[in-house]
Amino acid sequence: MRLLPILLSLVAASTAAPSNFLDDAYDFSEDLAGFYGKVSKYINQLKQNSTPGALGCDVSKIALPSYASGLPSSDGLSPLYVALGRGTQNYTCADSSANSVPEAAGAVANLYNATCIAANHPDLLEMLPGVAYTISLPSKDLARFPPANILLMGHHFFYDSTTPEFNLDLPNKNFGIVMTKKKGSIDAPSTAKKGKYGAVSWLYLTNTTGTVGNYGEVAVYRVDTASGSPPATCEGQPKNIEIAYSANYYFFGK
Ligand SMILES: *[C@@H]1O[C@H](CO)[C@@H](O)[C@H](O)[C@H]1NC(C)=O
Ligand SMILES: *[C@@H]1O[C@H](CO)[C@@H](O)[C@H](O)[C@H]1NC(C)=O
Ligand SMILES: *[C@@H]1O[C@H](CO)[C@@H](O)[C@H](O)[C@H]1NC(C)=O
Repeated sequence: MRLLPILLSLVAASTAAPSNFLDDAYDFSEDLAGFYGKVSKYINQLKQNSTPGALGCDVSKIALPSYASGLPSSDGLSPLYVALGRGTQNYTCADSSANSVPEAAGAVANLYNATCIAANHPDLLEMLPGVAYTISLPSKDLARFPPANILLMGHHFFYDSTTPEFNLDLPNKNFGIVMTKKKGSIDAPSTAKKGKYGAVSWLYLTNTTGTVGNYGEVAVYRVDTASGSPPATCEGQPKNIEIAYSANYYFFGK
């Protein structure tokens, strides 16, 4: 895949301002300006390069952000793809008193294919969730996601209360289903975009029963999380709470 067209499309997408600001903590000027500042820097670098697009999309170059070294390692596995996830973390409240605490009730997210951004511009990728969680999902399910203008690659939700599912089957692409179990967790770093109540933890997940496709052993890391944590108590909260979040999901396999 050629990189210059990707970066140019990122800039084209930048003219479509986010339609929905989900909370006050979001600083449009700072976060988005920082993101597009990096994009235009890369475009200028590419224009000076005699062979634009020569970078390609080499997945072997993909590496987790250094803070993920606090999670178990996936020795022996190689990078497969990276998805930008944008959706909601759901919680339930038994009542609306300060004595109740929100209980986790799964998550639902669209997954967008950020593999080539991960391979070529990890510094851009790690900024994306901090921008993405504030932006509404496109109303058409199969649409690309602004501001990175990247393709839908699948859906993330919970198969049951302890089984995060990554369903990578779409009408035009069949990449199977990765069923996982949580095997490790660390608090998001202090630099994470917190939203109203904080960024959800970084996770290490591994394959479990129900995985469909040519996968074998799989590790999925949820990193670069932005927002998604619940309020500290249920005081004044409805029974069902949905908190917008975004994260990067790194898939490793054989
Ligand atoms: C969580 O929120 C989403 C989005 O509104 C909803 O579709 C889903 O059913 C909710 N509950 C669970 C347990 O995922
Ligand atoms: C993600 O994009 C890369 C580069 O275009 C492609 O090789 C890969 O198959 C895609 N993965 C999925 C699951 O769509
Ligand atoms: C994960 O995949 C490996 C390779 O296919 C398999 O041996 C292992 O049993 C799987 N783990 C679980 C918990 O299903």
